Amino acid sequence: MNILGIETSCDETAAAVVTDGVRVRSNVVASSLKEHAPFGGIIPEIASRRQIEWIHGVVAQALAQAHMSLKDIDAVAVTVKPGLIGSLLVGVSFAKGLAYATKKPLVEVDHIQAHWYANFLRLAFEHKPLPVLPAVGLVVSGGHTSLFDIKDFHRVKCLGKTRDDAAGEAFDKVARLLNLGYPGGPAIDRLAQTGVNDQIRFPRSGLEGSYDFSFSGLKTAVLYYTRKHKDFRVEQVVYAFQESVVRVLTDKAIEACRRKKVKTLLVGGGVAANSALRRYLMEASESRGIQVHFPPMAFCLDDAAMIAGLGYHLM
Ligand code: KG4
Ligand code: ZN
Repeated sequence: MNILGIETSCDETAAAVVTDGVRVRSNVVASSLKEHAPFGGIIPEIASRRQIEWIHGVVAQALAQAHMSLKDIDAVAVTVKPGLIGSLLVGVSFAKGLAYATKKPLVEVDHIQAHWYANFLRLAFEHKPLPVLPAVGLVVSGGHTSLFDIKDFHRVKCLGKTRDDAAGEAFDKVARLLNLGYPGGPAIDRLAQTGVNDQIRFPRSGLEGSYDFSFSGLKTAVLYYTRKHKDFRVEQVVYAFQESVVRVLTDKAIEACRRKKVKTLLVGGGVAANSALRRYLMEASESRGIQVHFPPMAFCLDDAAMIAGLGYHLM
C-alpha cells in the first residue's frame, strides 16, 4: 500500500511516499528556516506563507521521485496537530482537497507520535530489523518533550511531558543568549565537545515521582551564570547546560523502560540528533538489555515520511 504523507505543522513543507508503513519511496522537504534565523525563532506568518507557495510543488516532486502518479496512491495521510495553526491549515486543506478529488481515504496523524514512529522507516535497500513493540517513546524536539507508553500503534499513552520549555527550545534559547545562532541545538552540540568540565553544574530538574520535564529554570540559571561570571568560557557553559538536559532525558527514559518492563526505547525529534544524548542513552540501555533506536538523521527532523508511515497503521 502506497501512502502519500503531507506535513506542514511548522516551517517545513514536506511530502513523501511510503509503502506498507516502512519503505520510503520519496521524502521531499522544503524549509523556510533560514528566513526565520535573524529573528531567533519561527515567525508563524512567514512560515504559513511559504507553505502556500511550496505545497503544490513539494507534493508533485514527492510523487515524481517515487516514480508514481496519484492513481498509484492508496491514501493521503496528513499532520493535523500539534503545530502552528496557519501552517497546519495549508497541509490539511491541500490533503483534504486531494483526497476528495481522487476519492482516496484521508488519514489524520499526530505529529508527535510520528516522531517516534520514524524508527520504523527504511530506505530502499536498507534491511535493518524493525523495532519490537511494546516500547517507551521519547520525543524531544523544538516544540515537544514527551514520554510515551507504546503498547502498539493504536494504544499509546502519554506518561509525561514538559511543563514549560521543550528540550530543543531550551537549546535554541540558550544559543540565542550566547549568540550562537539559530537553531541552537547543532551549534551547542558541536561546541560542547570542546568544553568538557566539572566546574560548572546547572540544576537538573528531576520533578521526582513524575515523568514530566521542566527546562525553563535551567535557561534562567545559564543567564544568571553568564551575568555573574564575565570571563566565562562559552564552550564550558554549553557543555554544563547540555549535561543538565541530556542526563535528565536519559534518566527518565530509562526509568520508564524499567517501570513498564519494556525492552525497546524509541527516540525521535530534532534533539535525537544530539551526540551526547545518543551516547548516554546507548550506555544506559546496554547494561539493562534495552534496545534503543534512533531514526536516521533525515528522519529525526520534521518530514512527511514519518506521517505517511504511521498513517498506514491508522487507516
Ligand atoms: O523535530 P524538529 O525539527 O522540530 C519540531 O518538531 O519541533 O526539531 C528541531 C529542534 C530545534 O530546537 C534544534 O535546536 C534541535 O531540534 N536540534 C538539536 C540538535 N539538532 C537539532 N538539539 C540538540 N542537539 C542537536 N544536535
Ligand atoms: Zn517535529
